[in-house]
Amino acid sequence: MSVLESERLILRPVRHGDATAITVWLGDYDVARMLARVPFPYSEGDAENFIAEADAHRFAIQRKQDGLFLGMIALQPDQDWEFGYWLGRPFWGLGFATEAARRLVTYAFVELNQPTVHAGWFTDNPASGNVLSKLGARHNGSRMRDCRARGVKVLCHDMLLTQANFLRKQAA
Ligand SMILES: CC(C)(COP(=O)(O)OP(=O)(O)OC[C@H]1O[C@@H](n2cnc3c(N)ncnc32)[C@H](O)[C@@H]1OP(=O)(O)O)[C@@H](O)C(=O)NCCC(=O)NCCS
Repeated sequence: MSVLESERLILRPVRHGDATAITVWLGDYDVARMLARVPFPYSEGDAENFIAEADAHRFAIQRKQDGLFLGMIALQPDQDWEFGYWLGRPFWGLGFATEAARRLVTYAFVELNQPTVHAGWFTDNPASGNVLSKLGARHNGSRMRDCRARGVKVLCHDMLLTQANFLRKQAA
């Protein structure tokens, strides 16, 4: 299992000790409603099942400074290398999602040799759309997609990121 490092963050394998933090942060409807597959309300059992099923491409986002668990980021090889991320609400607005996503996609491009990755954002989540644009991802179609926490389908914009666009954007 890889451990990835960036300036302020460590992306490390998720572990059993993360269950309480995951339960607290995903128990916030404003986090859960922006994610496709997260149930709401969210129980400690949901977190434990999630951790038990975790594979090599699911990472906890940990702050270097104090070791605090901030959220999660993951790549899904069986979904055409879709990636997704979330942070507990106190950690929003500090550039952590962009920093974690930059590190994860570098891992996908360089270490896993994937030519492209993609991610979707619900239409009422412009902050996530911004994270993806800052990486260099481009709009690649939109569709209605199930949102488990809301119990309805929500318009979701898919964003495709190629290695060339990523490198160009980071150099700009
Ligand atoms: C979306 C989320 C991951 C963003 O995390 P973050 O660490 O705050 O993101 P960053 O600070 O790296 O970047 C957010 C960008 O969006 C901008 N932004 C924030 N709120 C915004 C809003 N309401 N409208 C438009 N832009 C917004 C920020 O200013 C920033 O852009 P900037 O660097 O150009 O100023 C976080 O809010 C979150 O976990 N939300 C709940 C779960 C979720 O939405 N996950 C993503 C699913 S696709």
